[in-house]
Amino acid sequence: MPTPQFGALTRYATLRQLQVFQTVAELESYTKAAAVLHLTQPTISMQIKRLVDAVDMPLFEQIGKRLYLTGAGKELLATCHDVFERLGRLEMSLADLRGMKQGQLRLAVVTTAVYVAPRLIGEFCNLYPGVDVALEVTNRAWLLKRLADNRDDLYILGQPPSDIEVEAFPFMSNPLVIMTSRNHPLVGARVSLQRLLEEPFILREPGSGTRKTAERLFAERGFKPKVRMELGSNEAIKQTVASGLGVAVISSHALSLQGRDSPVAVLDVEDFPLVRQWYLVYPRGKQLSVVARGFMEYLRERMEVPDYP
Ligand code: PGA
Repeated sequence: MPTPQFGALTRYATLRQLQVFQTVAELESYTKAAAVLHLTQPTISMQIKRLVDAVDMPLFEQIGKRLYLTGAGKELLATCHDVFERLGRLEMSLADLRGMKQGQLRLAVVTTAVYVAPRLIGEFCNLYPGVDVALEVTNRAWLLKRLADNRDDLYILGQPPSDIEVEAFPFMSNPLVIMTSRNHPLVGARVSLQRLLEEPFILREPGSGTRKTAERLFAERGFKPKVRMELGSNEAIKQTVASGLGVAVISSHALSLQGRDSPVAVLDVEDFPLVRQWYLVYPRGKQLSVVARGFMEYLRERMEVPDYP
């Protein structure tokens, strides 16, 4: 049999070096990578130096305080994503061959889904103690970028994207309501959309799915809300609304743990609640890991979903 010919990279670079490189590249920092990988900074520098020697080209350039990938670095990072994704899948298949549900589930969810996802994950992990879950929480715009880059196994969001080919399954309803401070004079009254729009609004940040839905409704009706503030988290919005600064559109899941003496209330507004769904999504054609398929199955069995295929 002829001896296979391997280049310097394949002969001298190790998987560990690639892992260190990927971590530094994604965190744009040697120091943060050292903390995440529980290594010292000189060890990180040494691993990267060996990898640079094997590639025989610089992988990073330092401009001011920021670390940038060179062209070769970008190529190598894309290769790392492929290699680790393939190895991850292999680990899953091996676990499957051993007849066990074990391995990792990489789940990315939109900000508001933090009120839903951890409970589901907890129950799933109780069923399959061998599974560990990496949960990424980000807003809709960033989540769609991760989805386009195929960074995770599964995604949870409030509306499947229209410009990326995906498989999407609704698994739970997600009612959006109008929240105000408990002492607001409109609490308890039936409120028209037109009347509501006289109130100052506290909106989520651009890129949020909740915000997009609210804006779509207002645009359809030809209304323009008076925006008093934009905030990047549901918790910050609750605090702001509680102090009487305005009203907000929010998922009722974000209010589910509020007690009786909560400082916020839900208004009875025409057209609300806007009932949306939570969707489990993945890129069309993606080879799902055993654990990811298991999680989908689990959601399907657990939820009352009339239109689940
Ligand atoms: P958001 O997403 O947390 O980015 O607002 C919620 C949704 O898509 O419904």
